[in-house]
Amino acid sequence: MNNDEKDLLPFSSEKAELGIIEKLLKNLLTIKNPDNMLKQAESGGLKKTLGALDLIILGVGAIIGSGIFTVVGIAAAGSAESAGAGPGLIISMILASLACVFSALCYSEFASMIPVSGSAYLYTYATMGEFMAWLIGWVLMLEYLVGYIAVLSAWTGYFMQFIKGFSKFLPDFIVNPPHYLIHDYSTIANTPELSNLPLPHFMGIPVCVNLPGIFISIFIIYTLIKGMKESTKMAGVMVAIKLGVVGLFILTGMFYIKPENWVPFAPNGLNGIFMGAFLIFFAYIGFDAIATAAEETKNPQKNLPIGIIGSLAVCTVIYVLVALVLTGVVPINQIDTQAPIASAMAMVGQNWVAGLISIGALTGLTSVLLVLMLAGTRILYAMSRDGFLPKILQILHPKFKTPHILTIMVGLICILGSLFLNISTAAELCNFGTFTSFIIVCVAVLILRKTDPNRHRPFKVPFSPFVPLMGIFCCGGLMLYSMKFLTTSKLLFPVWVVMGIIFYFMYGYKNIRKMNGNGEDNA
Ligand code: ALA
Repeated sequence: MNNDEKDLLPFSSEKAELGIIEKLLKNLLTIKNPDNMLKQAESGGLKKTLGALDLIILGVGAIIGSGIFTVVGIAAAGSAESAGAGPGLIISMILASLACVFSALCYSEFASMIPVSGSAYLYTYATMGEFMAWLIGWVLMLEYLVGYIAVLSAWTGYFMQFIKGFSKFLPDFIVNPPHYLIHDYSTIANTPELSNLPLPHFMGIPVCVNLPGIFISIFIIYTLIKGMKESTKMAGVMVAIKLGVVGLFILTGMFYIKPENWVPFAPNGLNGIFMGAFLIFFAYIGFDAIATAAEETKNPQKNLPIGIIGSLAVCTVIYVLVALVLTGVVPINQIDTQAPIASAMAMVGQNWVAGLISIGALTGLTSVLLVLMLAGTRILYAMSRDGFLPKILQILHPKFKTPHILTIMVGLICILGSLFLNISTAAELCNFGTFTSFIIVCVAVLILRKTDPNRHRPFKVPFSPFVPLMGIFCCGGLMLYSMKFLTTSKLLFPVWVVMGIIFYFMYGYKNIRKMNGNGEDNA
């Protein structure tokens, strides 16, 4: 409607129109009071079973995975699309870890102040209102569920490598299955040696299923339904194995370091180092997943900051040591980009260490899958509780007290996604989702310090506003830098956001108002 038309409107219609827009804006900006969140969480019924050590295990379980077992090789040696960091990978790792540390401190302030399972989604609800909260919850699905798909793809790669080790004992159809039973469609279509092979069709649609990925996903769904304590117990065993093999790599590799391999330190200059930081950021993703287990944590005010910062610190030290050893043992142009850590050991004749590393990688990736799916379900649980998603998703299993319907639904969505998305697009989308949520949490800390300065903060971000601003700067900088190089994910990210906005107006917006019965806010 133009201004002339507006001028012809009777005064009351114009006012009514303004009223609708005002009401809409008011609803979109409705914030949720943190005290209400706490009350809601108390009545939620999730069992409180986790201590600080459980949380560190969960954190390390989510962090150490395909990033350090696979991506590290591409980050160091480079690929067709990205310049390698060389031994300067150590600087890339510190840069990526800095971006995470600033954000981890902000996460810790919120997690200790509002220990509820929605994590960044609820921190946004408390500061920026309903619409932004939904959007962040939606974007977090990229981090956790699309991240799950990326790790699932790496898992199948390592699993097939593991199976090949038993080729003398297993039938050939298991050791060398048809390509369409171990890859997604996108990988097949984009790999020259696979794209020419015939594919089965169902109703005209090519059929490609990551069968090992489906089996491990069913196992993950089952474990998560059985309960948090069981899941962390399982994650604990897997974390111990993967820490063991990474430790073995560092201790064995140390003796094969040739300092001349560290020269030149940064063969592609700052370009290589920044691209390395962007790529290796994926390796740090996961510490924030701890915040989603807040409602299942004993003494969350103290334990959550310890879990978040502790797991990040442990992983940063490990990563820098791995980078030092890897680039010290193998000349940059000989680093294997498929299984860099295991291959480095094979190159120096330590084949048994290489074999153990492959097993450790498989175990490590399984724990990452477990925690990523756990985090995804807990965010969706909180969103359903707020009315953004159907109520059925909140139903808890009568015996295990876990959201079983939601877990099965999430598992099926991940399996479906894994049929289409390849590892690099999934990992890039996961990075986009994570950068966005980290930036929003840093902004949220700054907002709540202004709007609710007297709220009790058991853990406070030191040197605020410097630390949150640095978090925004580092994450924003890496995100913008990566855009220069990416293609598919750069387009899929806005498509995902628009889908989220449409879904909100078609379901969540109306349902929240219906749920509250007054057509007004739900603060
Ligand atoms: N940080 C996790 C990994 O590297 C996502 O697999």
